[in-house]
Amino acid sequence: MLKAVERKIEQYIIDLDEPEILGLYAKLPVGKRLRAKLILRIAGSNLRVVKTAAIVEMIHAASLLHDDVIDDADVRRNKPSINALYGNKTAIMFGDILYSKGFFELGEIDPKIAQIISNAVVQLSLGELRDVSLSQSFTTNKDAYLKMIYQKTASLIEASAESAALLAGKKPEPYRIYGRNLGLAFQMIDDILDITSDSATLGKPALHDFEEGKTTLPYIYLYEKLDTTEQEKFKFMHGKKLKKNEQEWIKVQMKNHKIIEQSYAEAKALIDEAITLMSTEGEDALSTIAKEMIERDF
Ligand code: IPE
Ligand code: IPE
Ligand code: MG
Ligand code: MG
Ligand code: MG
Repeated sequence: MLKAVERKIEQYIIDLDEPEILGLYAKLPVGKRLRAKLILRIAGSNLRVVKTAAIVEMIHAASLLHDDVIDDADVRRNKPSINALYGNKTAIMFGDILYSKGFFELGEIDPKIAQIISNAVVQLSLGELRDVSLSQSFTTNKDAYLKMIYQKTASLIEASAESAALLAGKKPEPYRIYGRNLGLAFQMIDDILDITSDSATLGKPALHDFEEGKTTLPYIYLYEKLDTTEQEKFKFMHGKKLKKNEQEWIKVQMKNHKIIEQSYAEAKALIDEAITLMSTEGEDALSTIAKEMIERDF
């Protein structure tokens, strides 16, 4: 059914009747389509469901176009990012077009679902803004991190799960909580993979977050474990291009203090909670997608 979603996205792009957009779309590789899979898994596959999944993936793609401008990232989904190919101006406007087309099509689905998803995009944008302001200085405030990742990532996944439940006539609350947990865990894993993986596997820059000033969960935990001299050394590296020996130092410290295990356990606890919740709803099939969210290497 993911094929139907793919065709629907293409249709939405063709509707725009603009050769330049067709050309840009051709340069946008397909991602994991996790949000679409989640919606289909919860709601089945009638036309409204397929449209909602296509809209959410278009909105997600728009957020990545803007995110790569914000993060100065030149690779996305294993290909040069749109900002790397055509510059920031084109990437921003292409993002705006995908967002706007998505909102336009949402109007056709259902007013309640349109509200849920567009509100999630407000949260996502507030989260991206907060991510930028948090990265201006060295911050190890875990509550601020959790709030920020809820906004930038979990909100859209939560809205996807809730909307899918409404489309299927299921009571939305448990699906909303399930989606929220998945979204939080998903971003924690994304932040772990930035450290543990390489850019060829990720299809996007690796070990990039700290250089961009982002003190994600593993960095917050590492800071807590270092002694004062090491903390000073660590803070000095923040927000700068890391030298090879500095990258090594960070990785060794992470290993010595079992930071990746600690961070992974936090994501896993959220996933376990989500799985338990779904099993009480008799939705055992939804545990597979929850596991896929954390057992991944890109
Ligand atoms: C990337 O999302 C942005 C985050 C929220 C971490 P995905 O990892 O779902 O990106 P694609 O769609 O598969 O490329
Ligand atoms: C971005 O988080 C999440 C969005 C809402 C776009 P990241 O900046 O960590 O996402 P990646 O790693 O570039 O995919
Ligand atoms: Mg990014
Ligand atoms: Mg970002
Ligand atoms: Mg990331």
